[in-house]
Parts: sequence; structure tokens; C-alpha cells
Amino acid sequence: MSAIQREFTMSDESFKTVSELAYQYTGIVFGDHKKDMVYGRLARRMRELGLKDMTDYCPLITDSGHDEVSKFINAITTNLTSFFREPHHFDFLEDTFCEEVIRSSKGSKIRGWSAACSTGEEPYSAAITLSEKLIGTHWDCKILATDLDSKVLEHASHGIYDKDRIKSLTADRKKKWFLSDPNRPDVVKVKPSLQAMIKFKRLNLLEGWPMKGPFDFIFCRNVFIYFDLPTQQKILNGFAEKLRPGGYLFIGHSENLHDAGKHFDSLGKTIYQRR
Ligand SMILES: C[S@@+](CC[C@H](N)C(=O)[O-])C[C@H]1O[C@@H](n2cnc3c(N)ncnc32)[C@H](O)[C@@H]1O
Repeated sequence: MSAIQREFTMSDESFKTVSELAYQYTGIVFGDHKKDMVYGRLARRMRELGLKDMTDYCPLITDSGHDEVSKFINAITTNLTSFFREPHHFDFLEDTFCEEVIRSSKGSKIRGWSAACSTGEEPYSAAITLSEKLIGTHWDCKILATDLDSKVLEHASHGIYDKDRIKSLTADRKKKWFLSDPNRPDVVKVKPSLQAMIKFKRLNLLEGWPMKGPFDFIFCRNVFIYFDLPTQQKILNGFAEKLRPGGYLFIGHSENLHDAGKHFDSLGKTIYQRR
């Protein structure tokens, strides 16, 4: 049996157990090539717990006496995100979606869902886009922003970001949507009016979705890529149920939806429309 022998021991067997638990709790698939990455992600927990062998860590994850499962989940998720990531989606929201709702007689509510929102840059970018386009109109816009990882959600709900994170935004946007604090010159805070549009909630895409919907659009970007095909299919069917006919689904740039044709038309550029 081979083992990665560094600060901690992780045998092939304990890697297999960790991968199986990750799949069970999150749907994320870790192939053998992700061994070093998993090791790196769990190293901090091992250190905090004073453990030397991953074999001793695995039982803690499933032991209900420990609150390890959420820490395990938070450690293994990939949370990379940014404001206006994949900007063509926000252009579409502004130019196509908003124009359509303005012209339609669909009512006065817009409901969006950012289904793996990480630290919040995605739902805040959507909220900025809707607010700028629909300013002065009667539209009531709300975005539900969910993630499995409780730590990123906490960050998202505080809305505080390193100044660097908004450096690509126009000066006008920075001024309009972010507050500076002279006592903390390295960070900015999202303005309360934007925060009021978004509700952050913990939600595992593998489990039940209690919200009623229907949504006008769903962002589920850069998370499908971690799931296997049956999981992707199940989630996609769920999105089809939660989206109104004509609503939009945005996925990540490197993601490919197999079998999306059952419920969705592809509009190109990783944008799908509910039939
Ligand atoms: C790479 S980030 C993507 C963030 C954002 N959507 C974007 O594209 O910039 C992936 C997010 O998916 C979340 N995630 C992973 N598995 C999940 C699951 N089963 N249910 C809900 N969120 C999950 C992770 O916690 C992480 O924050």
C-alpha cells in the first residue's frame, strides 16, 4: 500500500474513505489525481486536531459526537470566484433578460437564484446588474444565494472584500455600490441597499430544495464540473422544475450539460433557456 508521507500520513485506503465521504456529503468526485489536493485541503484540520494519520481523521467525520462534518465540507470545497466572473452572463442579464422583463407583462417581481454562490461575488454582481438596469422602475428584485459551505456564506453575508477584489470594476460602480472605511483602507463593504436584495442560505444541492420558486434565472456556475453525470442530471432536472418557462440557466465556462435538451434550449455561451 503506498502512502503520501509528508507532515501527515494518507494511505490509499484513507484517501478512498475521504473521497467516498466527500461524494456522500457533497457530490464532489475526487479522482486519484486529486490526492495531493485533498491532502493539502485537509492538512489544516489535521494540524488543528493534532493528528498525524488520516486514518484517525476519517472516523471523526462520521462521528455525530464531533461537529467535524461541516468543517470537513468547508475544507474540501473549491470556492474560487470573482465579481463579474464570465462577464458575458451579466451582459446577457442586462441586455436580454432585463429588456425582456421590461417589455413583458409578467408582473413586477424578479427572482434569481445563485445556487453555489461561494463568497457572494456572483449574487452581488447580479444584483448590481439588475439594479443599474432597472433603477427608477417598479421592479422588485430578490436573489436567493446558497452554498453548501457555511464559511463562505458567512463571508458573503458580511459583504466585506479586499479592495483588490473590485479593482476591475469601473470607478462609477465602486462608488455606487461599495463603502470604504478610513479605519480599514484595504477593504470595502457592499452597500446595504444591495445586501437587502440578497438572502444567503445554506443549501446542499444534493438534498431537498425547500424554496418554492419559480425563478426567472438561476446561476449554477463552476460547480457542475465537480459532480458525476447522474448528480448533474438530477440537479438539472431540479432546476427545470424551479425555473419558469422562458427562464434562464447560466453555467460555468468549462461545463457541459449532457441531456440539457430535455428541458432547455442552448443559447450558446453557457446560457440555457427553460422551454
Ligand atoms: C468554484 S465555486 C463557484 C462560485 C461561483 N458560482 C462562481 O462561478 O464564481 C463552487 C462552489 O460550489 C459549492 N458547492 C460544492 N458542492 C456543493 C453542493 N453539493 N451544494 C451546494 N454548493 C456546493 C462550493 O462550496 C463552492 O463555493
